[in-house]
Amino acid sequence: MPVLAVSNQKGGVGKTTTVTALAWYLATAGQRTLVVDNDPQGNATSCLAPTAEGGTIYEGQAPIATATPDLFVIPGGPALLDQERALAQRPGGSGRMRELLAPLKGQYGPILIDCPPNLSFLPTNALLSATHLLIPLQCEYYALEGLGQLLAYIDDLRRSTTLDLRWVGILLTMADDRAPLAAQIERDVRQHFGSQVLKTVIPRDPALAAAPSHGRTVAETAPLSAGSLAYLQATRELIDVLV
Ligand SMILES: Nc1ncnc2c1ncn2[C@@H]1O[C@H](COP(=O)(O)OP(=O)(O)OP(=O)(O)O)[C@@H](O)[C@H]1O
Ligand SMILES: [Mg+2]
Repeated sequence: MPVLAVSNQKGGVGKTTTVTALAWYLATAGQRTLVVDNDPQGNATSCLAPTAEGGTIYEGQAPIATATPDLFVIPGGPALLDQERALAQRPGGSGRMRELLAPLKGQYGPILIDCPPNLSFLPTNALLSATHLLIPLQCEYYALEGLGQLLAYIDDLRRSTTLDLRWVGILLTMADDRAPLAAQIERDVRQHFGSQVLKTVIPRDPALAAAPSHGRTVAETAPLSAGSLAYLQATRELIDVLV
Protein backbone atom coordinates (compact mmCIF):
# COMPACT_ATOMS: atom_id res chain seq x y z
CA MET A 1 0.00 0.00 0.00
CA PRO A 2 1.29 3.46 -0.82
CA VAL A 3 2.86 5.69 1.78
CA LEU A 4 2.81 9.29 0.58
CA ALA A 5 5.12 11.77 2.30
CA VAL A 6 4.23 15.42 1.74
CA SER A 7 7.41 17.35 2.32
CA ASN A 8 9.24 20.55 1.51
CA GLN A 9 11.73 22.15 3.85
CA LYS A 10 10.30 25.53 2.99
CA GLY A 11 7.69 26.74 5.47
CA GLY A 12 4.11 27.70 4.68
CA VAL A 13 3.95 26.29 1.15
CA GLY A 14 0.75 24.31 1.67
CA LYS A 15 2.01 20.93 2.95
CA THR A 16 -0.57 20.55 5.69
CA THR A 17 -3.39 21.97 3.58
CA THR A 18 -2.48 19.44 0.90
CA VAL A 19 -2.34 16.48 3.31
CA THR A 20 -5.64 17.32 4.98
CA ALA A 21 -7.57 18.03 1.77
CA LEU A 22 -6.21 14.97 -0.06
CA ALA A 23 -6.84 12.74 2.95
CA TRP A 24 -10.43 13.94 3.28
CA TYR A 25 -11.16 13.39 -0.40
CA LEU A 26 -9.47 9.96 -0.43
CA ALA A 27 -11.41 8.86 2.66
CA THR A 28 -14.75 10.07 1.33
CA ALA A 29 -14.00 8.24 -1.92
CA GLY A 30 -13.99 5.08 0.20
CA GLN A 31 -10.25 4.68 0.75
CA ARG A 32 -9.35 3.76 4.33
CA THR A 33 -6.91 6.62 4.81
CA LEU A 34 -4.38 7.25 7.57
CA VAL A 35 -2.70 10.60 8.19
CA VAL A 36 0.50 10.54 10.23
CA ASP A 37 1.19 13.99 11.66
CA ASN A 38 4.99 14.13 11.75
CA ASP A 39 5.19 17.84 12.62
CA PRO A 40 5.73 19.33 16.10
CA GLN A 41 3.34 22.12 15.04
CA GLY A 42 0.56 19.51 14.96
CA ASN A 43 -1.45 21.43 12.35
CA ALA A 44 -2.79 18.37 10.54
CA THR A 45 -4.03 16.99 13.86
CA SER A 46 -5.83 20.22 14.79
CA CYS A 47 -7.49 20.28 11.38
CA LEU A 48 -8.57 16.64 11.11
CA ALA A 49 -9.01 15.57 14.73
CA PRO A 50 -8.97 18.65 17.00
CA THR A 51 -9.99 16.66 20.09
CA ALA A 52 -7.73 13.65 19.47
CA GLU A 53 -5.62 12.67 22.46
CA GLY A 54 -2.79 10.29 22.09
CA GLY A 55 0.89 9.82 21.49
CA THR A 56 2.83 10.15 18.28
CA ILE A 57 3.88 7.56 15.75
CA TYR A 58 7.27 7.23 17.48
CA GLU A 59 5.49 6.19 20.70
CA GLY A 60 3.72 3.44 18.77
CA GLN A 61 0.36 5.25 18.88
CA ALA A 62 -2.40 3.37 17.06
CA PRO A 63 -4.48 5.27 14.48
CA ILE A 64 -7.36 7.27 15.98
CA ALA A 65 -10.70 7.49 14.16
CA THR A 66 -11.80 11.01 13.16
CA ALA A 67 -15.32 12.37 12.66
CA THR A 68 -14.95 11.50 8.96
CA PRO A 69 -15.59 7.82 8.19
CA ASP A 70 -12.51 6.00 6.85
CA LEU A 71 -10.18 8.80 7.97
CA PHE A 72 -7.71 8.05 10.78
CA VAL A 73 -4.97 10.13 12.37
CA ILE A 74 -1.83 9.47 14.38
CA PRO A 75 -1.35 12.82 16.15
CA GLY A 76 1.65 15.12 15.98
CA GLY A 77 2.58 17.96 18.29
CA PRO A 78 5.39 19.36 20.47
CA ALA A 79 6.28 15.93 21.92
CA LEU A 80 7.91 15.23 18.57
CA LEU A 81 10.71 17.68 19.41
CA ASP A 82 12.09 15.55 22.27
CA GLN A 83 11.44 12.39 20.31
CA GLU A 84 13.42 13.76 17.39
CA ARG A 85 16.38 14.49 19.69
CA ALA A 86 16.21 10.96 21.09
CA LEU A 87 15.95 9.39 17.63
CA ALA A 88 18.97 11.32 16.41
CA GLN A 89 21.10 9.69 19.15
CA ARG A 90 19.88 6.21 18.41
CA PRO A 91 21.48 3.87 15.86
CA GLY A 92 18.93 3.30 13.11
CA GLY A 93 16.79 6.16 14.46
CA SER A 94 16.00 7.43 10.97
CA GLY A 95 14.26 4.13 10.15
CA ARG A 96 11.99 4.14 13.21
CA MET A 97 8.84 5.36 11.46
CA ARG A 98 9.26 2.78 8.73
CA GLU A 99 9.41 -0.02 11.35
CA LEU A 100 6.33 1.31 13.13
CA LEU A 101 4.28 1.79 9.95
CA ALA A 102 5.08 -1.66 8.55
CA PRO A 103 2.31 -3.52 10.45
CA LEU A 104 -0.24 -0.79 9.58
CA LYS A 105 0.37 -0.95 5.85
CA GLY A 106 -1.93 -3.91 5.25
CA GLN A 107 -4.74 -2.34 7.25
CA TYR A 108 -4.99 1.02 5.51
CA GLY A 109 -5.19 2.24 1.96
CA PRO A 110 -3.05 5.28 1.46
CA ILE A 111 -0.97 6.52 4.40
CA LEU A 112 -0.17 10.25 4.17
CA ILE A 113 2.63 11.80 6.22
CA ASP A 114 2.70 15.53 6.93
CA CYS A 115 6.21 16.91 7.52
CA PRO A 116 7.68 19.95 9.25
CA PRO A 117 9.48 22.65 7.25
CA ASN A 118 13.05 21.36 7.54
CA LEU A 119 15.24 18.47 6.46
CA SER A 120 15.93 17.10 9.91
CA PHE A 121 15.32 13.68 11.46
CA LEU A 122 11.52 13.86 11.30
CA PRO A 123 11.23 14.36 7.51
CA THR A 124 14.08 11.89 7.03
CA ASN A 125 12.00 9.28 8.87
CA ALA A 126 9.09 10.10 6.57
CA LEU A 127 11.20 9.88 3.41
CA LEU A 128 12.59 6.50 4.49
CA SER A 129 9.03 5.24 5.08
CA ALA A 130 7.59 6.57 1.85
CA THR A 131 6.87 4.91 -1.46
CA HIS A 132 5.69 8.24 -2.88
CA LEU A 133 6.68 11.83 -2.25
CA LEU A 134 4.59 14.87 -3.09
CA ILE A 135 6.36 18.24 -2.93
CA PRO A 136 4.03 21.24 -2.68
CA LEU A 137 5.75 24.10 -4.45
CA GLN A 138 4.76 27.73 -4.29
CA CYS A 139 5.41 29.54 -7.55
CA GLU A 140 8.03 32.02 -6.40
CA TYR A 141 11.70 32.44 -7.14
CA TYR A 142 13.25 30.96 -3.99
CA ALA A 143 11.03 27.89 -4.30
CA LEU A 144 13.27 26.51 -7.03
CA GLU A 145 16.41 26.77 -4.89
CA GLY A 146 14.63 24.95 -2.10
CA LEU A 147 13.44 22.25 -4.49
CA GLY A 148 17.02 21.71 -5.68
CA GLN A 149 18.17 21.22 -2.07
CA LEU A 150 15.37 18.76 -1.34
CA LEU A 151 16.09 16.67 -4.45
CA ALA A 152 19.83 16.66 -3.66
CA TYR A 153 19.03 15.48 -0.15
CA ILE A 154 16.92 12.64 -1.56
CA ASP A 155 19.80 11.65 -3.85
CA ASP A 156 22.09 11.51 -0.81
CA LEU A 157 19.57 9.28 0.98
CA ARG A 158 19.34 7.04 -2.08
CA ARG A 159 23.10 6.54 -2.01
CA SER A 160 23.41 5.89 1.71
CA THR A 161 20.21 4.05 2.64
CA THR A 162 17.63 1.74 1.20
CA LEU A 163 15.12 4.28 0.00
CA ASP A 164 11.85 2.83 -1.30
CA LEU A 165 10.67 5.96 -3.14
CA ARG A 166 9.05 5.02 -6.45
CA TRP A 167 7.42 8.28 -7.41
CA VAL A 168 8.24 11.92 -6.75
CA GLY A 169 5.64 14.49 -7.78
CA ILE A 170 5.32 18.24 -7.55
CA LEU A 171 2.09 20.10 -6.79
CA LEU A 172 2.06 23.81 -7.59
CA THR A 173 0.28 25.64 -4.78
CA MET A 174 -0.91 29.14 -3.92
CA ALA A 175 -0.80 30.15 -7.55
CA ASP A 176 -1.70 33.77 -8.12
CA ASP A 177 -2.91 34.70 -11.60
CA ARG A 178 -1.90 38.30 -11.11
CA ALA A 179 1.79 37.50 -10.50
CA PRO A 180 3.62 37.42 -13.85
CA LEU A 181 6.67 35.74 -12.32
CA ALA A 182 4.50 32.86 -11.12
CA ALA A 183 3.52 31.96 -14.69
CA GLN A 184 7.19 32.01 -15.72
CA ILE A 185 8.14 29.78 -12.79
CA GLU A 186 5.34 27.36 -13.64
CA ARG A 187 6.63 27.11 -17.21
CA ASP A 188 10.19 26.51 -15.98
CA VAL A 189 9.12 23.84 -13.49
CA ARG A 190 7.00 22.03 -16.11
CA GLN A 191 9.76 22.19 -18.69
CA HIS A 192 12.29 20.78 -16.26
CA PHE A 193 10.19 18.19 -14.41
CA GLY A 194 7.68 17.27 -17.12
CA SER A 195 5.03 14.74 -16.09
CA GLN A 196 6.27 14.77 -12.48
CA VAL A 197 4.33 18.01 -12.08
CA LEU A 198 0.63 17.47 -11.46
CA LYS A 199 -1.57 19.07 -14.11
CA THR A 200 -3.75 20.53 -11.38
CA VAL A 201 -2.56 23.83 -9.94
CA ILE A 202 -3.90 24.93 -6.55
CA PRO A 203 -4.93 28.59 -6.71
CA ARG A 204 -4.47 31.07 -3.91
CA ASP A 205 -7.89 30.99 -2.26
CA PRO A 206 -8.98 32.59 1.04
CA ALA A 207 -11.29 29.59 1.61
CA LEU A 208 -8.19 27.41 2.04
CA ALA A 209 -6.72 29.83 4.56
CA ALA A 210 -9.97 30.00 6.56
CA ALA A 211 -10.68 26.26 6.85
CA PRO A 212 -8.18 25.39 9.65
CA SER A 213 -9.73 27.97 12.00
CA HIS A 214 -12.89 25.83 11.96
CA GLY A 215 -10.92 22.65 12.71
CA ARG A 216 -12.18 21.28 9.39
CA THR A 217 -10.86 20.73 5.90
CA VAL A 218 -11.78 23.07 3.08
CA ALA A 219 -13.83 20.27 1.55
CA GLU A 220 -16.19 20.59 4.53
CA THR A 221 -16.18 24.36 5.06
CA ALA A 222 -16.26 25.51 1.43
CA PRO A 223 -16.73 22.48 -0.84
CA LEU A 224 -17.45 24.53 -3.95
CA SER A 225 -14.59 27.00 -3.54
CA ALA A 226 -11.92 27.08 -6.23
CA GLY A 227 -9.34 25.80 -3.75
CA SER A 228 -11.45 22.85 -2.63
CA LEU A 229 -12.32 21.85 -6.20
CA ALA A 230 -8.65 22.08 -7.18
CA TYR A 231 -7.76 19.66 -4.38
CA LEU A 232 -10.53 17.32 -5.56
CA GLN A 233 -8.96 17.42 -9.02
CA ALA A 234 -5.48 16.82 -7.56
CA THR A 235 -6.86 13.83 -5.63
CA ARG A 236 -8.20 12.36 -8.89
CA GLU A 237 -4.76 12.71 -10.47
CA LEU A 238 -3.09 11.14 -7.44
CA ILE A 239 -5.52 8.23 -7.22
CA ASP A 240 -4.14 7.06 -10.56
CA VAL A 241 -0.65 7.07 -9.07
CA LEU A 242 -1.48 5.79 -5.59
CA VAL A 243 -4.27 3.25 -5.83
N1 LIG B 1 -3.84 27.79 -1.83
C1 LIG B 1 -3.91 28.55 -0.73
N2 LIG B 1 -4.46 29.78 -0.77
C2 LIG B 1 -4.53 30.55 0.34
N3 LIG B 1 -4.05 30.18 1.54
C3 LIG B 1 -3.48 28.97 1.64
C4 LIG B 1 -3.38 28.08 0.52
N4 LIG B 1 -2.78 26.94 0.94
C5 LIG B 1 -2.51 27.10 2.25
N5 LIG B 1 -2.94 28.31 2.68
C6 LIG B 1 -2.76 28.90 4.02
O1 LIG B 1 -1.40 29.28 4.12
C7 LIG B 1 -0.86 28.92 5.39
C8 LIG B 1 0.26 27.88 5.20
O2 LIG B 1 -0.31 26.70 4.67
P1 LIG B 1 0.05 25.28 5.30
O3 LIG B 1 -0.09 25.30 6.76
O4 LIG B 1 -0.72 24.26 4.55
O5 LIG B 1 1.58 25.23 4.88
P2 LIG B 1 2.71 24.25 5.43
O6 LIG B 1 3.68 24.07 4.32
O7 LIG B 1 2.12 23.04 6.03
O8 LIG B 1 3.36 25.16 6.59
P3 LIG B 1 4.49 24.66 7.61
O9 LIG B 1 5.75 24.64 6.81
O10 LIG B 1 4.49 25.69 8.69
O11 LIG B 1 4.09 23.30 8.10
C9 LIG B 1 -2.01 28.39 6.20
O12 LIG B 1 -2.57 29.46 6.92
C10 LIG B 1 -3.00 27.90 5.15
O13 LIG B 1 -4.32 27.92 5.60
MG1 LIG C 1 2.39 22.25 7.94
